Amino acid sequence: MQKRRAIITAVGHYVPDKILSNFDLEKMVDTTDEWIRTRTGIRERHILENGATSDMAVEAAKNALKNRGIRPDEVDLIVMATITPDMFFPSTACLVQDKLGAKNAWGFDVSAACSGFLFALMTGAQFVETGAYKKVLVIGADKMSVITDYSDRNNCILFGDGAGAVLLEPTDDMSVGILDSILRCDGSGGGALHMKGGGSLNPPSHETVDKRWHYLYQDGKSVFKVAVMGMADVSVEILKRNNLTGADVDWLVPHQANLRIIDATAERMELDKSKVMINIDKYGNTTAATVPLCLSEWWQAGKLKKDQILVIATFGAGYTWGSALIKWSAEDAKG
Ligand code: UT7
Repeated sequence: MQKRRAIITAVGHYVPDKILSNFDLEKMVDTTDEWIRTRTGIRERHILENGATSDMAVEAAKNALKNRGIRPDEVDLIVMATITPDMFFPSTACLVQDKLGAKNAWGFDVSAACSGFLFALMTGAQFVETGAYKKVLVIGADKMSVITDYSDRNNCILFGDGAGAVLLEPTDDMSVGILDSILRCDGSGGGALHMKGGGSLNPPSHETVDKRWHYLYQDGKSVFKVAVMGMADVSVEILKRNNLTGADVDWLVPHQANLRIIDATAERMELDKSKVMINIDKYGNTTAATVPLCLSEWWQAGKLKKDQILVIATFGAGYTWGSALIKWSAEDAKG
């Protein structure tokens, strides 16, 4: 019998200053602001010029710890979601642990692309619910600009850089926190969205560079079809099995890949658009960072409040997808 719930007690985020607008992209590839806005909902994205994924992750984590009023050395565990690690090893979690000064924490990386934060959140929650740890930092951060081919108009318009972090702590109040989750993967989707080069299958060589295999590849049309279905299916299913309807939900927190996918998910949940967190217009797809970026921005703006019901929904490379049902527990932001 589970005796504890994991609750999110603090959120934080970081986005780099430099903005890459649709108009900037018009000068780089054959595209238009109008096409990008109407097909994706994106107006601009942020780009990290100097530094790596761990640097953004550390800033997001610092922000979350500050909001909770605790020191880095109080953190027990860091679960880091990213597909753009600083390097293959050591893990980005280790680099963050050092830079943050979380000297009593251990940590590891989770690789699940755009579902990375959700998978990391559920992983971190297990350590809290068993009673093993009391303060778990879950971070989603990606520097997508380093694996984006800025000569490929199909994909370079989609991605941006950013980071978000949450702190998980235990409570014995079983009515709040992470109430339920549905997590899925289907590896047969790997061909449609991947980065071919650099790993043990295709180690770096002149050939892999010439073939542009160190950049993200996506067959957008194929991914779009399964993403629309996958994200909506698990969002509807999690409501149904908890005897809830769209009317019971205060916020849908969707992965921000395409506004049309988000709209379709909200529609299937019979959810009013005013209850959907959307910031894709400002940041594009920041992969593991989209969900915590939304949570942090909405909390900071005073729109995400204690006891509200949230559904997180994600879809990404793998394929990986899932949903989580949360009763929000962080203290409201001080206005
Ligand atoms: O986060 C992980 C999961 N990823 C996703 O969920 C992404 C899913 N996919 C998508 O969001 C969409 O498929 C895209 C935004 C990537 C593409 O939108 P689409 O409506 O599926 O466009 P399309 O690929 O069917 O292309 C339509 C047309 C094509 O021209 P033709 O063949 O009809 O003449 C493309 O060549 O638009 C063209 N096109 C562009 N035109 C201007 C493709 N990219 C661009 C562009 N600017 N940047």
